[in-house]
Amino acid sequence: MRILSGMQPSGPMHIGNYLGAVKQWVATQNHDAFYCVVDLHALTLQIDPEKLREQTTDLLASYLACGLDPDVCTVFLQSQVPYHAQLNWLLECVATYGELSRMTQFKEKAQRQEGYRVGLLTYPVLMAGDILLYEAAEVPVGDDQRQHLELARVIAERFNNRYGKTFTVPVAVQPKVAARVMDLQEPTRKMSKSVSSPLGSIYLFDTPADIERKVRKAVTDTDNEVRFDWEHKPGLSNLLEMYSSFSGDKPDDVAGRYSRYGDLKGDLATLIVESLAPIQRRYRELLADPGELHAVAMRGSLKAAEVAGPVYHRAARAMGLL
Ligand code: TYM
Repeated sequence: MRILSGMQPSGPMHIGNYLGAVKQWVATQNHDAFYCVVDLHALTLQIDPEKLREQTTDLLASYLACGLDPDVCTVFLQSQVPYHAQLNWLLECVATYGELSRMTQFKEKAQRQEGYRVGLLTYPVLMAGDILLYEAAEVPVGDDQRQHLELARVIAERFNNRYGKTFTVPVAVQPKVAARVMDLQEPTRKMSKSVSSPLGSIYLFDTPADIERKVRKAVTDTDNEVRFDWEHKPGLSNLLEMYSSFSGDKPDDVAGRYSRYGDLKGDLATLIVESLAPIQRRYRELLADPGELHAVAMRGSLKAAEVAGPVYHRAARAMGLL
């Protein structure tokens, strides 16, 4: 099964990224699966060049530490495969301004700053290109990327109708639980790399003490009945989904085992700490040798380019480029 997905190196990975996306990547990786660090996407917001380099290396280490195996799947850097930027232009001439300006993430991010970059608007086109270049059938992502995936499908279908069948129309794949992990302090807002209260996100490489503190302080409600109910108990339901994703048990079953919030929180903190410990160990080992991480990315990018090149040329020819 051809799979592609990616993550921005815009900050350290949090458990929303892990449970919503990377855990699925690891479970479904195969010789036809491609996972990229989408460094070009990270340029849509202000980021210091040194920081971008550092976070890109960090994210490569995080991918491998979580269990992606470069002998099984292809791990690569978006900017090292020039077809991404090239196809982006072709697809910008297929997508419309109206479609892009209606994207929820664009509207939210544009609101937060003056003089936002054009790239912030056209970002979903670059993302569509990432997917279409690899003829991906499935794209494992968290719930917040659903709208972008829908646009990628629209762009692929429009291109195929206008210029002849060129692209595979991709499908988004989401995990059954934890597809949208919420901020621990504001459980009606998703956990996010860019906007976050200090106690709102659990990062993959937080210390056990920090994890414990954040889970203990997570906002719940006051009626003290442990029940899985997103409408009335978003804070608690968020904790139950995290528990469920780490343990494999259904959220309702987890809820049935507890009568006190404090007990659930204590066990959840332990579960998270224990689940992340081997990932954290491996991450530290990998980061000790950044040269090897860059070599993995380079090898992956060469493999990725072999797949993306023919698709790009097919699209360019279909549009009439010589
Ligand atoms: P990014 O970098 O914001 O997030 C990476 C992945 O993590 C998921 N995610 C979450 N899942 C559950 N709960 C959350 N709170 C949460 N926050 C983030 C995201 O859904 C995503 O799967 N535009 C994409 C990156 C991208 C991409 C692509 C993805 C670029 N090109 C091609 C797939 C295919 C993004 O900004 O994800």
